Amino acid sequence: MVSPTLTPTVLAYTPPDPPLKEFTPARDRAFFADPKKNSLLSQASAVEEVTPHIGTELKGVQLSSLTDAQKDELALLIAERGVVFFRDQDITLDQQHELASYYGIQDRDPNQQDPKHVTIIGRDGNVRAYGQYSAEYHSDHSYELNPPSYTLLRMVKTPPSGGDTIFTSQTALYDTLSPTFQKLGEGLHAIHSSERSYISSINGGGAPHRAPIATAHPLVRTHPVTRLKSLNYNPSFIERIEELNRQESHHLLAFLREHLLNASDLTVRWKWTPGAVAFWDNRIVVHRAVPGGYDVSLREGKRTAVYGERPFFDPENSESLTKRKERLQKERGVNGIVHKTKDVALNN
Ligand SMILES: [Fe+2]
Repeated sequence: MVSPTLTPTVLAYTPPDPPLKEFTPARDRAFFADPKKNSLLSQASAVEEVTPHIGTELKGVQLSSLTDAQKDELALLIAERGVVFFRDQDITLDQQHELASYYGIQDRDPNQQDPKHVTIIGRDGNVRAYGQYSAEYHSDHSYELNPPSYTLLRMVKTPPSGGDTIFTSQTALYDTLSPTFQKLGEGLHAIHSSERSYISSINGGGAPHRAPIATAHPLVRTHPVTRLKSLNYNPSFIERIEELNRQESHHLLAFLREHLLNASDLTVRWKWTPGAVAFWDNRIVVHRAVPGGYDVSLREGKRTAVYGERPFFDPENSESLTKRKERLQKERGVNGIVHKTKDVALNN
């Protein structure tokens, strides 16, 4: 474990790049998808929901040969299911870069040396150790003004066992809170900071190319495509809740961590094989790579991501999963006939 302590090396370090500026990304490709996704799903030999709340595996589909219509439908499937899995992919690194660029401007983690991808390696250590926050649940660099949206990790090599990644749905985490607690969360903002990650990186011999930042993001966010509400929680990078006193903030964050750690029913654990891919929506999913117990030199992957919109909360035009289901059920009526269609459909 590398210490997040302010050492003389950290104080003497000057990152080479200026801070990023907020921008409005191009319209999310999921908006262009046919809601039925026939083009993509008809290509698959099997479509398996890995768990009820999160994760779909598409079998018999090669990411290297998707049409633009299929890419758009894949974006929508990811936005709806949180993460979509594939195995035995033949996609090359260059093709992976190209696929990422289809979905937006390629994102660059402050610690990412290659401008187009991060090389993900094995992790040793004990997830319970003090300060072992790199193995803690997180969404990738959420402290940015435009945190990543569509994120693809492809494993090049994997150990026979160990190094699994766990994904949890933040949409379902929000949905399983009581209505009173949901209301409380909707008025709050969390300060996401890269400071500890920056310091640890330098102390570990890294050279982050941007200075650390701290950004206030809404604790509950609206997905721009599905218009579902989800938690925007991140135990790795959130320092405090902006509107609360210190003790209140501390206890609220401790509760949210307990809520997340209890969420086995809202979670999928993915066992990697060489050539396997997880393609997730970093806006609505937290993940953790389970460290230890295997030869770390046997795990290597390539991660690409694109910048998403600045997280926002739109109380007028978003709803929880439960409210969505109830509304659609009502609109369909007892005979399954749609009596009324509103502007917010399941797949808009
Ligand atoms: Fe990550």
